[in-house]
Order: sequence, then structure tokens, then C-alpha cells
Amino acid sequence: MTTTQVITKKPVIQTKTANNGIRYKPLHPTFGAEAYADFSLINQEFVEEIKKGLAKYGVLVFRKTGLDDARHVEMSKLFGDLDDIAPFVGGLGQKNRLSSDYLFDVGNVNPDGTVMQPGGMRDLLLRCNYHFHADSAFNPRRAGISLLLAHELPPAGFGGDTEFADTRTAYQGLDDARKEEIKDWVVCNSQLNCRRNANIDENGKLNPLLDTDEFDPMKHKFGKHKLVQTHEPSGQTNLYIAAHAHHVEDLPIEEGQKQLHDLLLHAGKPEYTFKVTWQDVGDLVIWDNTCTLHRSVPGRYAGIYKRDLRRTTVHDMSSQAWGLNGEGATWRSGLD
Ligand SMILES: [Fe+2]
Repeated sequence: MTTTQVITKKPVIQTKTANNGIRYKPLHPTFGAEAYADFSLINQEFVEEIKKGLAKYGVLVFRKTGLDDARHVEMSKLFGDLDDIAPFVGGLGQKNRLSSDYLFDVGNVNPDGTVMQPGGMRDLLLRCNYHFHADSAFNPRRAGISLLLAHELPPAGFGGDTEFADTRTAYQGLDDARKEEIKDWVVCNSQLNCRRNANIDENGKLNPLLDTDEFDPMKHKFGKHKLVQTHEPSGQTNLYIAAHAHHVEDLPIEEGQKQLHDLLLHAGKPEYTFKVTWQDVGDLVIWDNTCTLHRSVPGRYAGIYKRDLRRTTVHDMSSQAWGLNGEGATWRSGLD
């Protein structure tokens, strides 16, 4: 009797294939994947497959999708209810230069097509994006999935990456006593908190332009969400912390702020993070705000080269979407 030895050649690139052909190459030991898919046919089945990938990886990076504004928006609608900027058009000192109010303009391009210069009010407000956050944590209905598409990028080497943090694994990294301490905390989130903190100088002085009632978090509504929640698509526990987190309900303000600051630093530790380098027009990054954080990484491109990134934002469709804000609440941060 003879035996046959089977030699399996290990592939150079470790990929896994989903039923519909989406392949995944992990980008980090615990989350994030580069995903390979055909965007020529976008339908509900395709989107459901992407959602399965998101439940596992939290962040998916698709290269050179070929999407334009219209297909970006139409595809996004298949993920769920879309947030829109209609109530804000005219805000941030500019008009909507894009073709749809479902597109959030998170790049550095002025309405006249020029590059945004550092120091203006819009630049000051967008500095919040340099800090780890979850989109719309400050609104009564938080964001679920965000889809960010590259339209124009700085030359290679000039920066402009997007960094992500894995808040499911960050929760697991807390010791049992800490988990017990925070398990019922309700966090009061404010976009103004993030905007102010992003404009405090090295001497601890707030930029006078934001030292007004208009930018005082305590004079506006908070988006209230539980800090520790079950991430429903995966069943894992998530730490819902963001730079918008202002204080903890029922704790003294300063004590809560210190605790939240420590937790945000914990979630942003290097072992929980990785960066995405944008490479080409058409690159699309999709992430789940209810199990990850993200931030824009400052770069040498600022004030020199365009970084035109446009985001659609899908409202959270889970049972915890409205937090403790009352389902159906119509107020929104900046308009309350
Ligand atoms: Fe964001």
C-alpha cells in the first residue's frame, strides 16, 4: 500500500472568499480588511455581503471602485436610512458645492474650487476630525455605517491618511473592575466639545473665536448614549467612546471628563489602531461607527493640495440608534 503526500502551497496573500466573490485581506490582527469586489453591479445582495464583512472587520477598504457621486449615493441608500446635510446648507460659512445633500463634504476644498487655508473658521471646526470619533455621536440618532469616497488626493508622501481604532477589542482590554465600574454609564456627547478641544493651544487657552455661547456645550443639547453596548451585528461588546464625549450623566462634570479622557486614550492605543493610506481616486472606505473610531491624520498637504473626500452617512439601524434621546427626536447638533 502506498501513500500520497499532498503539499498545499500557502498563498502569498492571505485572502478569504465570500459567497458572492468579495475577498478579504486583513489589515490588522483584530479588525479592518482590504476588500476586493466588483462594483459594476450594485444591488441589495451585494450590499448585504458587504454588511457581513463589516460585522466582522468593522472597516473595509475598497480600491479604485470607479464610483461617482450618483452611484455612491444610490449604493449607500441600500445600507439604510441616510443622514443628510440639508438643514446645514449655508453653515460652516459655505454653500454645498456637491451634487447631493446626502454627501458630506469632509475634504479641504472651498466652494470656488480652491484649497482651504489653515486658520479660517471652517478649518478650525474641521480640526475636530483629527481626533478619534464616531460620526454623529452628538445627534439624537447616531450614525451606523459611513462610506467615504476619494475624489482628489494629495501626491503620495504628503499625508492625509485616515486612522481607525477597534473599540470592541479596546473594551476587551479593560480589566474586570473597570468593566464593572463603567457598565451603566451614560455619556453626553457634543460636537462642540470636540471642536473646542481641537482648538486649545499649548498653554491651555481656547481660541477666542470658539469662546462664545454658540460653542459652549453646556448651552446646547447632548446626544446621550450608553458607553458600553452590544454591537448587534457581531454580538460583541463595544466601548462607544468618542472625542465628542463631554461628561458622564450622574457623575460630577470634571470627574466624568477625566474618566472619558482616559477611556478615549485607551481606545486610541497603537495596538488597537491602523492607518489607511488613500492611493487613488475611487478608493472607498466603509466603516461601522458603532464598533470603530476614526480620525483624519494631519499632513503636509494642508493648505497646498486638495484632499477631496465625500462621505455618505447611514443612520444606525440597530435598536440602540437613538440612545437615550427619545426615538424620533428631530433636533440636530448645531441647530438646537
Ligand atoms: Fe468622521
